[in-house]
Amino acid sequence: MQPIGIFDSGYGGLTVMKEIVKELPSYDYLYLGDNARAPYGTRSFDTVYKYTWQCVQWFFSMGCPLVVLACNTASAKALRTIQQNDLPALYPDKKVLGVIRPTTEVIGKFTESGSVGILATRGTVESGSYKVEIERFFPGVNVHQQACPVWVPLIENRELEGAGVDYFVSKYLQELFSQSDHIDTVLLACTHYPLLIDTIRKNSPREVQFISQGGLVAQSLKDYLLRHPEVDVACSRGASRRFYTTDSVLDFNSNASLFYGEPVESLHLDL
Ligand code: DGL
Repeated sequence: MQPIGIFDSGYGGLTVMKEIVKELPSYDYLYLGDNARAPYGTRSFDTVYKYTWQCVQWFFSMGCPLVVLACNTASAKALRTIQQNDLPALYPDKKVLGVIRPTTEVIGKFTESGSVGILATRGTVESGSYKVEIERFFPGVNVHQQACPVWVPLIENRELEGAGVDYFVSKYLQELFSQSDHIDTVLLACTHYPLLIDTIRKNSPREVQFISQGGLVAQSLKDYLLRHPEVDVACSRGASRRFYTTDSVLDFNSNASLFYGEPVESLHLDL
């Protein structure tokens, strides 16, 4: 079996995997959540790179020809080094893709005002990756970023609505919109945030469009496989889905369905 690997620091990548599986159901998939070391969003470049590269090599040892980093923080802090240094030197036939490029190369088409907001973890915001990439693809577009450090813990504790959640959702939205009156498009640049979408819409002080990444990443992967038939043939098609976590299997199984939308049976991986 040569599955497509899908990696995240924990549960969030399951929101991306759900969309990928919907778009490309016939492939085999192997998911790994590094829950034992999550969250990544608050960690340094070196740490995120070290953890991500270790997990990517595990995917390769499991036969994956292609790994998707379905985690914004790992895509922002580890992908470039892996693509530019590690793969050419050690695994020239393997591919690793992220979630930032599939989003940034189309986001400019959604905005009419030319002003885009990015909501993400502190690590993703500090990396500057979204700003750099969007300004490269769409030089006229202004990018405003806001870190939302409390949202991931809220979501992981299943706190998706109620007065306390409203407070923290509204707080970060107001901070984002105070940066510019022109923002008309806001990207949820963290794999967890789609779960908060109803509360985000309810607390938004302005009528804007909120964009989730899963569908964009799935479409981009489909296009990539069409453009790279040599990678496509290396991916096996048995429609299997396997899930691993570096932490408790029981916890993973009970929380994962919230993100994946259907029951998940995982196995433990000791790294
Ligand atoms: N998956 C991470 C991301 O998309 C959020 C969770 C974390 O901080 O580990 O940035």
